[in-house]
Amino acid sequence: MTKSGDKLVSRDGHSLPLARRKAVLGADALEITPVPPVTGAYSYDPGYASTASCTSRITFVDGEGGVLLYRGYAADDLARHSNFAEVSWLLLNGELPSHTELQSFSEELAGLRHCAPEVLDTIAAVPAGAHPMSTMTAALSAMPAVYPECTDPDDADHRRRFSHRVIANIATVAAAAYRKTIGKPAIAPRKDLGYAANLLYMMFGEEPNPVASRALDTLLVLHADHEQNCSTSTVRIAGSSGVNPFSALAAGCIALWGPAHGGANEAVIQMLEEIGATENIGEYVARAKDPGDSFRLMGFGHRVYKNFDPRATIICGICHEVLQELKTGRGRLFTLARQLEEIALSDSYFKDRRLYPNVDFYSGIIYRALGLPATMFTPMFAVGRTVGWAAHWCEMHTDPEARIGRPRQLYLGPTARSYLPVGER
Ligand code: ACO
Repeated sequence: MTKSGDKLVSRDGHSLPLARRKAVLGADALEITPVPPVTGAYSYDPGYASTASCTSRITFVDGEGGVLLYRGYAADDLARHSNFAEVSWLLLNGELPSHTELQSFSEELAGLRHCAPEVLDTIAAVPAGAHPMSTMTAALSAMPAVYPECTDPDDADHRRRFSHRVIANIATVAAAAYRKTIGKPAIAPRKDLGYAANLLYMMFGEEPNPVASRALDTLLVLHADHEQNCSTSTVRIAGSSGVNPFSALAAGCIALWGPAHGGANEAVIQMLEEIGATENIGEYVARAKDPGDSFRLMGFGHRVYKNFDPRATIICGICHEVLQELKTGRGRLFTLARQLEEIALSDSYFKDRRLYPNVDFYSGIIYRALGLPATMFTPMFAVGRTVGWAAHWCEMHTDPEARIGRPRQLYLGPTARSYLPVGER
């Protein structure tokens, strides 16, 4: 970490030197902690778009270059050549596993797939009609009571046990949440199948086509982490209070659910269904551009990626493969999505604002082809992202600089006033 003399110059000409934290890749950060005591003012940064909330060694995103690195390895390279178990180890431990490490980690995860009966009881007790994201959150909330040996943020063994337990169990929870939506009992996991194949097996009760398993595995890899996004920042801020990790992840799960974040994959399919045919695309693009209409092209735009989302490029390729292999008759939506992408990308509104398809634009079409209903798209994202959430939670709890997350505000409410009892107002 080197520091040099960046300065903040106040209106009256006084300058305040700001220490610069040097990044290994990407933008450096200026330390603004001394600013409020000297200037009497906070930094104002809605959506934290200009704020580095922590240091991290896990994932690097370069939005201009379309680069996504997990522990220094390109995520698209890992998506093509690695698998979810290996990427999980990498994200948690910082290095690729040896052959023996990978084997024993995969075996350990397979051995931990069964959820405690209390967790399955919690899923059964969730009201019929609950969205599976609600069910998954409820299941995570039950876990600290049944896995107390995984709850102490300050104990390295607890942190390791928690990470492995939650990565193994979250797929079982997602599958049971799905079975609940169709009024069917959970299917017990199988140890002999890979992570993604077992997840599909627990949902549908039959061994999946290897192309389907491979496609899901790739999606899980591509969703595994994305630095300080909304849900990961939520996990960090909830976890910063010292709460147990299952509850911190439950908070992250809720943040992921929203349509501006992980819920976009479900919204994309709803939008494509609503558009219905090529001749209607123009009308929807016009609505997306109309400042008086709240409609947005779902699966388009990203806070960080401004040229392309590297995950979207791979996912578009998998779409081709899966639709061809599984011959599900879902090609209509894919064709419509390609046409919508082409029309939007040639429109100056989207070009000027640098809005491109994001990770969610094509993932829903793949999930559809695998037989998943739209309500299960975000839960699949949550299964993949669980690894990232766990890695960030662990990293935060070994960071000597980490403090409870407690932002300030720019207060615009009433000044102090006297209370009058109701009869005197
Ligand atoms: N359709 C139409 N216009 C859009 C879209 C869109 N999808 N996204 C952004 N814009 C416009 C905005 O209206 C704004 O226009 P203006 O400058 O004329 O006011 C401009 O582009 C900048 O948009 P912001 O909302 O300021 O961008 P921000 O970084 O805050 O939001 C977000 C990013 C939330 C992803 C946004 O692009 C969006 O809502 N996209 C659709 C939802 C979606 O796909 N979310 C998934 C994101 S990926 C993920 O979380 C996994």
